Amino acid sequence: MFFRRTRSIPEEYLQNIGAHDDLLRALFVMTQFDGRTVLDGVDLAIRRGEIFVILGPSGCGKTTLLHHMAGMLPPTMGSIQIDGKDIYGIPPAELDELRTHMGFSFQHGALLNSMSVLDNICLPLREATQLPEMLIRDIGRIKLDMVGLIHAQDLEPSDLSGGMRKRAAIARAIAMDPDLVFFDEPSAGLDPITAAEIDNLILKLKTVFGITMVVVTHDIPSAFTIADHMILLLDGQQLAKGSPEEILSSKDPRVVNFIGRTMPLADPAKVDILNYVAGVDSRLPEPRGANS
Ligand SMILES: Nc1ncnc2c1ncn2[C@@H]1O[C@H](COP(=O)(O)OP(=O)(O)OP(=O)(O)O)[C@@H](O)[C@H]1O
Ligand SMILES: [Mg+2]
Repeated sequence: MFFRRTRSIPEEYLQNIGAHDDLLRALFVMTQFDGRTVLDGVDLAIRRGEIFVILGPSGCGKTTLLHHMAGMLPPTMGSIQIDGKDIYGIPPAELDELRTHMGFSFQHGALLNSMSVLDNICLPLREATQLPEMLIRDIGRIKLDMVGLIHAQDLEPSDLSGGMRKRAAIARAIAMDPDLVFFDEPSAGLDPITAAEIDNLILKLKTVFGITMVVVTHDIPSAFTIADHMILLLDGQQLAKGSPEEILSSKDPRVVNFIGRTMPLADPAKVDILNYVAGVDSRLPEPRGANS
């Protein structure tokens, strides 16, 4: 069920904290379901072109926060600002227009098994544009090529491996050339190698196309590999915010306990996006075990 926003943020406060300089800001976000508080005072800023990670254990409110940011669910209190606009304070038609500039990859995939992979990617284009069918299919193929799945265009989602399904979901999220993409657990349930390939793909989207991305994960190595900035949630409260280095240097015992000190830091040399940008290897490797 949707809740109505019950408090607005004074414009003067927004100006003072420079809120309008960021692409997205969540301000004092508080959310209750049936009287139970699941987010309690979340306050964050996302800069244009960065990867912002929402990290935390299961049930801490990550998906709920992502839905607030993507214009799908207003918080009980507080405000979500995109480009300085309170997205739940603007007319619904304006919010709908804003959402055509966003992509969303859902936690549980949400690819339709009744149609081919290519048709799944084309679906948002068919629903939201008047483009001719031939052009829609060309755009769909380009997006599949970008995620290394062009060979799978005629398969059905049920024929894909877990990693391929995640990549197809990413291709669908970027079908409309969004400025802002939300990924909910893009590598959950994958083996570490396939999960690292998804991390590389997300880094590629940022580096090559400059897309701003908000990524929800509970996978600590993945978070520290891809994040420019992150927020660590626990039971709906923000435990820590900042760059990966700032989070790692936190002395808060709850933060130390959550991230641990033995986590291997990503070796940048292993990130194949660097090869991609240099034109050495423009294709991501196939996921190991795909279709096996
Ligand atoms: N529509 C809803 N109605 C009632 N409770 C909800 C609703 N959506 C989420 N919740 C509750 O809010 C809490 C946070 O849920 P949320 O899905 O945001 O967590 P999460 O961090 O994404 O968890 P996970 O890592 O398991 O995906 C949970 O206790 C969940 O049961
Ligand atoms: Mg979730």
